Amino acid sequence: MSKSITILGIESSCDDTSAAVLKDGKILANIVANQSIHKLYGGVVPELASRAHQQNIIPVVDQAIKLAGIKKEDINAIAFTRGPGLMGSLLVGTSFSKAFALGLNIPLIEVNHMQGHILAHFIEEEQLKPSFPFLCLTVSGGHTQIVLVKDFFDMQILGETIDDAAGEAFDKAAKIMGLPYPGGPLVDKYAKDGNPKAYKFSKPQIPDFNFSFSGLKTGFMNFINTEKSKNEHFVTENLADICASIQSTIIDILLSKLESASKRTIIKQIAIAGGVSANSELRNRLNDLQKELDWEVFIPKFEYCTDNAAMIAITGYYKFLKNDFSNQSATPVARYDLNNKANEL
Ligand code: KG4
Ligand code: ZN
Repeated sequence: MSKSITILGIESSCDDTSAAVLKDGKILANIVANQSIHKLYGGVVPELASRAHQQNIIPVVDQAIKLAGIKKEDINAIAFTRGPGLMGSLLVGTSFSKAFALGLNIPLIEVNHMQGHILAHFIEEEQLKPSFPFLCLTVSGGHTQIVLVKDFFDMQILGETIDDAAGEAFDKAAKIMGLPYPGGPLVDKYAKDGNPKAYKFSKPQIPDFNFSFSGLKTGFMNFINTEKSKNEHFVTENLADICASIQSTIIDILLSKLESASKRTIIKQIAIAGGVSANSELRNRLNDLQKELDWEVFIPKFEYCTDNAAMIAITGYYKFLKNDFSNQSATPVARYDLNNKANEL
């Protein structure tokens, strides 16, 4: 029998500090420390994020190793997020990983966060995995992309947002309603009791498979301000209906582009990834479309949707299998496209 491979994954690209232990493709532990400090500011404050990563990283890694029931000497390689993300946050994970790998005398593997979101589908679980080629709608706080996934590390963006990301649209709408950051999960929660047809918002007309959400945000802000000038309790009195209506508009925009991309490429294996893939309406409507359009839909487990180190560890595992290692001169990059081209600007 071939030797088993244990990877420690480290994720620190934004405001979650996470460490995961993966053995032969299976997750033994996946610990995520959320940073509640940003709630006070209505969004992620980069400097506070990197300081919190610095406080969290050692306890989070320690907890992951203990929960996995392994010793640090059992780890064969450390996979860390190189980018894209906030520079100060990435620096903490990168520096920690370099030091730990040096101490243990094991190889380092650098991982592209966006590839990680997509490759989360390959974590060994009960459920079926997509086969290549498939389409992946990656929807997070910073990205909205329709990706043609030809192989583990051969991905092509068919369309992406030209302004705000889908997660940002959720968070900004929530902020306009006075909800705390991150608002996406709250909009999802309140929308469950609301009527998605209660209010209508105009949708952007953007060519091809690209997205735009900034017009929707402005339209939504104007709508809320107008209604509030007539009734100052408008939001609290109609919260569920407003959340359901804005959520279904965002999901309509995402799904109509995904449907066109599937038609154009004749690919019916459809996956979703990233924080917004935790959204219940997106998940439910994809399940319905599966029957309607004869799609095979792949939805990640809830804990692998929002930022986590399990997805970094599985990506590291596939890089380990092809001997694709990094070294002690690795540096984080804030902008990093899906084909690993770094853009320092
Ligand atoms: O992938 P992620 O954890 O971090 C980034 O890489 O950006 O995504 C975070 C985004 C946030 O905008 C958050 O509001 C959104 O995902 N999100 C949701 C839900 N859960 C997280 N949006 C809508 N519905 C949800 N249930
Ligand atoms: Zn992410």
